[in-house]
This record gives sequence, C-alpha cells and structure tokens, in this order.
Amino acid sequence: MKLYYAAASPFVRKVLVCAHELGLADRLEIVSTKVVPSEPNRDYSRVAPLMKVPALERADGVTLFDSVVICEYLDSLSTGVKLFPATGEARWRALRLHALANGILDAAVLTRYETFLRPAELRWKSWVDGQLLKVDQALDVLEASVAELDGMTIGTVNAGCALGYLDFRFGDRAWRAGRPRLAAFFESMMKRRSFQETVPKG
Ligand code: BEZ
Repeated sequence: MKLYYAAASPFVRKVLVCAHELGLADRLEIVSTKVVPSEPNRDYSRVAPLMKVPALERADGVTLFDSVVICEYLDSLSTGVKLFPATGEARWRALRLHALANGILDAAVLTRYETFLRPAELRWKSWVDGQLLKVDQALDVLEASVAELDGMTIGTVNAGCALGYLDFRFGDRAWRAGRPRLAAFFESMMKRRSFQETVPKG
C-alpha cells in the first residue's frame, strides 16, 4: 500500500502512529508528496482530488482518504490490536476525542497557513485569534477530562498528534502552562515507539 506522505503533516503522523501500533508500518510504501494550498499539485490530484495528505493507495488501485478513514481501514486489517472500539460507549468516546483533537489540528493548521503562507499584508488577525481560541478551549476541555485520555484508541492517538503539532509549529504558545495532566499524557505518549518514530520534520 502506498501512503502519500509529508513529514510535517500531523494527519500523516496520525496514520503512521496507527500503523506502528497495529504492527502494519512495514506494509506501507512511503511516497513523499508536496502539498501547499497555494501551489496545487496537479499530478497528485490524479491520486487524491482534494490534493491533501495523507492518502492511501491500496493494491487494488482504490485510494482512501482522509486520515481517519485510512486509520479505520488499517484497524480493520489488524487481527490483534484495535484502535477503534467496535461498539458502544467506548466507540463514541474514542470518536469524540478524535474529533476534538482534529478540531485542534484544523484550527492550528489553518493558523499556520494564515501566519506563514499568506502574504503579511493580507493577514487577518481576528480570524487567527478565533482559531487560536478554539485550540485553547479544546485544550482546556482535555485538561479537565483527562480520564478520557486513557488507553490507546484513535482518540488518544490523535490527541497525542495534536499536542505534538503544537510543539512543532506553536512552541511559543506554551500549551503545557496550567495543563499539567495534559503534559503528563503527552509525555507518556512520547515514550511509545510509534510516537518517537514519527516526530514531525520540515
Ligand atoms: C505544516 O507544515 O505545518 C503542515 C504540512 C502539511 C499538512 C499540515 C501542516
């Protein structure tokens, strides 16, 4: 299976962490792919029409996206470890946590684009402030409900990826300040090989 990849993407990291946890990492052929919203990669659009990473091209030629769909597909291939609880409250909790962490990522990545890619004279401060407020409020909810961060699920994987992305691109925002339980959670995730092998670069 081909995984279309960018080393800086937290969404790619989510897929790779899942692949490591599920024992499937060696089944992925990594294809480095340039994705910059202001420079559409037309060649890649033949694989992934939204021109986003990650995408997973299966041996039968079908391409799966987005990241959570790929993760659930990988989960379905695993006969041992499972990251998506099959049914019941455990499933809703894992998916809810995944969604909260994904909201942090969406807001953080949009902020990164706005503050790094967009020409300085076109930047919109109150829009950035609104995105960063989403990040802060979601982090506060995670800190207050840290029991939700128990075990390895698609939710805890994505929460770890979201915190890792904040370290990577927003180190100056000091997300750990006033959030000691979240900091301890991230430290425990970073002890895992799956997180150590997928630290973002770029
Ligand atoms: C980044 O460079 O921060 C980035 C790259 C790809 C996807 C999302 C974010």
